[in-house]
Amino acid sequence: MGKIGLWIGGALLLLTALGCDPSNGGDDTGRDLSHIPYEPKDYPLTTPPGLPGLPPSPGNPQTYDGVQLGRHLFFDPILSLDSTLSCSGCHDPRRSFTDNLALSPGVGGTLGSRSSMTVLNAAYYTSGLFWDGRSALLEDQALEPVVNPVEMHEQWPNVEEKLRRHTQYPELFRKAFGIRNTSEITRDLAARAIAQYERLLLTGGQSIYQQQVRSERFFDDDQQEGHDLFFNLDPLIPDAECFHCHSAPLIQANEFFNNGIDSVGDLGDFADKGRGGVNGVFFDNGKFKAPSLYNIALTAPYMHDGRFKTLEEVIDHYNSGGHAADNKDGFIRPLGLTPRQKRSLLSFLHCLTDTSYLQNPDVLSPF
Ligand code: HEC
Ligand code: HEC
Repeated sequence: MGKIGLWIGGALLLLTALGCDPSNGGDDTGRDLSHIPYEPKDYPLTTPPGLPGLPPSPGNPQTYDGVQLGRHLFFDPILSLDSTLSCSGCHDPRRSFTDNLALSPGVGGTLGSRSSMTVLNAAYYTSGLFWDGRSALLEDQALEPVVNPVEMHEQWPNVEEKLRRHTQYPELFRKAFGIRNTSEITRDLAARAIAQYERLLLTGGQSIYQQQVRSERFFDDDQQEGHDLFFNLDPLIPDAECFHCHSAPLIQANEFFNNGIDSVGDLGDFADKGRGGVNGVFFDNGKFKAPSLYNIALTAPYMHDGRFKTLEEVIDHYNSGGHAADNKDGFIRPLGLTPRQKRSLLSFLHCLTDTSYLQNPDVLSPF
């Protein structure tokens, strides 16, 4: 007994002498930051011409320093377990903020079950983020990839500790949020900064489609026919019905549908339950978000599991009327498009490309 007591006492003394008193966890007192100036300036958000204003982000006003912090965090592998994977690893600005893979390898190479989505225009979704809409706000969403075992596979307390001890981040957090001490660096502030950065990631206004809406440019014949197919505008050609779920001007819907990519006898049989897995509604099994089609020509492969390699395959799917399931949407039905009409529809989808966001230096990696 006495021996053990002595040993513990000795060990505690030694730890205290080394400056790591276990009772305060080592760095609890943190470093004072109040000498660093905190002068928040609004970052005015300009939405692309032809697109609506962004939904409000209460409690998280956009500032220059907030955006700079968020941008650093987005491109920095420090958020992952072994510092190998950043958000941009799966959301690369040069690939329209996707990774062009069907499924993305996380830390250690583990594959997830869903395909990376573009972050462009994510700020516009008001019925939830992810393919199944399970995160309400960008501020909630940003917390998830860090702890997801098939993505960054890290724990937030570790990330907070890494950021507090870092040579640059304490200053960036101070400038963004006015914290007075490194101990005030939290996951919530990190997520708020990432969300501020993501609200810059907007696209569509310089697409040929939007230029045509503004009469700055005109479609060629194929593009015009594809446009009229997409929006059911010409009584002499089939209605392709796309616009019901990919609606102008965002070419997306804040809703979830079964677009007929799987054949199931029973709605319980979907390999991925999608929306139903989130809200528990049986009839919503196999429904997914209808994502925006801006830059769709740049974000292959397609659908929540990346099953279609090309837009030609996507168009063939819709033209076929899809697979049977009780909740398949009524607009998914055989379309009867000719090979020429399918090519026109493809030409129109290419008119939705807009990479002008790459001209804003605040969008690109700071490293
Ligand atoms: C390993 C690859 C990977 C990494 C790393 C990753 N993501 Fe993702 N991201 C995905 C996948 C896959 C989805 C779709 C997942 C789902 O629907 O369940 C997604 C979805 C999203 C969405 C939703 C977009 C929408 O339209 O609903 C946002 C926003 C996003 N990620 C931001 C981030 C941020 C911020 C980080 C870093 C903190 C990050 N991602 C790290 C793969 C990744
Ligand atoms: C009933 C609603 C609905 C209609 C009509 C519809 N879509 Fe979709 N679309 C969706 C949904 C939902 C998804 C996502 C499905 C998934 O991933 O499982 C999707 C996905 C897509 C994708 C892949 C997106 C990506 O990022 O991977 C493309 C491309 C697409 N649709 C094009 C079209 C075209 C072209 C038409 C018209 C021929 C059309 N859609 C009609 C609901 C619809």
